[in-house]
Amino acid sequence: MATGPEHRRQLIARRWAGLLGASDAAQHPLYTELAELARHEPLLTELILAAPEDQQRPNLLLAALHDLALAAPDGPLAPWYPTARWLAATGGLDAEPAEPPPSSPLPEGAGSAVVRFLTAEREAVVELLRTRATQTNEVGRCAPLLYGLSKLRPSDAPVALVDLGASAGLNLACDAYRVELGPFHLGPPGSPVVLRTELRGEVDEPIVAPRIAWRRGLDRTPLVPSRDEDARWLLACQWPDDLERFERTRRALRLARRDGGVEVVAGDVVEDLAAVVEPAPAGDRLVLFHSWVAAYLTAQRQTQLADAVRQLGEERPVSWLFLEHPREVSGLEIPLLATERIPGSSLLVLVDEERRARVLAQCHPHGTWLRPDA
Ligand SMILES: C[S@@+](CC[C@H](N)C(=O)[O-])C[C@H]1O[C@@H](n2cnc3c(N)ncnc32)[C@H](O)[C@@H]1O
Repeated sequence: MATGPEHRRQLIARRWAGLLGASDAAQHPLYTELAELARHEPLLTELILAAPEDQQRPNLLLAALHDLALAAPDGPLAPWYPTARWLAATGGLDAEPAEPPPSSPLPEGAGSAVVRFLTAEREAVVELLRTRATQTNEVGRCAPLLYGLSKLRPSDAPVALVDLGASAGLNLACDAYRVELGPFHLGPPGSPVVLRTELRGEVDEPIVAPRIAWRRGLDRTPLVPSRDEDARWLLACQWPDDLERFERTRRALRLARRDGGVEVVAGDVVEDLAAVVEPAPAGDRLVLFHSWVAAYLTAQRQTQLADAVRQLGEERPVSWLFLEHPREVSGLEIPLLATERIPGSSLLVLVDEERRARVLAQCHPHGTWLRPDA
């Protein structure tokens, strides 16, 4: 439903106010300062109104600023964007992996520099606001994904993996990364992408993921790693104070750029589900996966997604694995937890080929820890 500009201004102001939790200020000093600035600097709200109505969020403006900072590492924003300096210092998107330095304090003057920049570069900022959407691709979620795949039975069947809401398709290359899940190590030991996930709790058998024989992604707006602007945008959607996460995504992007990446077709997770899985080889076990995607659908669309998966299951065996925040997915049926809910956890759920659903694990939303549940 369209709403008037004043109503939308108020909504954006509320979103600025709710951008960071009290405990986040120390971790994200730049965005803390900009959220504070937005309380009395109307430009920070006004510009966001240039975005399509469903994208009018502070995160989109922050990503646009970050993108322009990354594009001009010697530009006026560089002192406040460690990521821009890091990308330039290491040699750009395709540079050899390097170990990021520890974070340093934010220099003074971020707010006034940002306002000067937004005024001078208004056109470039508005162009990004009009054409882009905030979009991440968190490779840390490969640990829950591989854990979920390890629970499929029989365990030796090759998998045809379809990632719904795949973004740049980086998680479809989960078997190209070194994943250290507690004492279990998966993937090539020499991989430049190393994901360390704390395993909280016991597992009753070794974690061994099946071979992924075929893979494909689907996304409303796929980002193509080989396109510099897309790769930069993906990095820009991350927050600029976490160099370690930034470097990890850059490494995964670099692999995708080198190897051509995995195909991610443009489409809607409900409308285009059947078409995207159609070429999956009949001899492979079809696994549908999504992480932090259903959370962006209305409850009604989530129910439609569940119906579409069920309908697909009438035609061929299908396993459905997802990592979502339970509060955000009321349209999906989430089974009861066997263990106590950890506040803020995302749930890894498997609906097997016989349509039995169970929670496999509770996880950090970015996959930094995993606690087996079933
Ligand atoms: C938060 S990102 C998560 C990306 C990826 N699954 C991950 O875990 O890194 C959500 C993704 O879902 C995609 N998306 C949202 N709604 C969609 C829809 N209806 N159909 C297809 N993709 C959608 C967005 O474009 C975005 O790439």
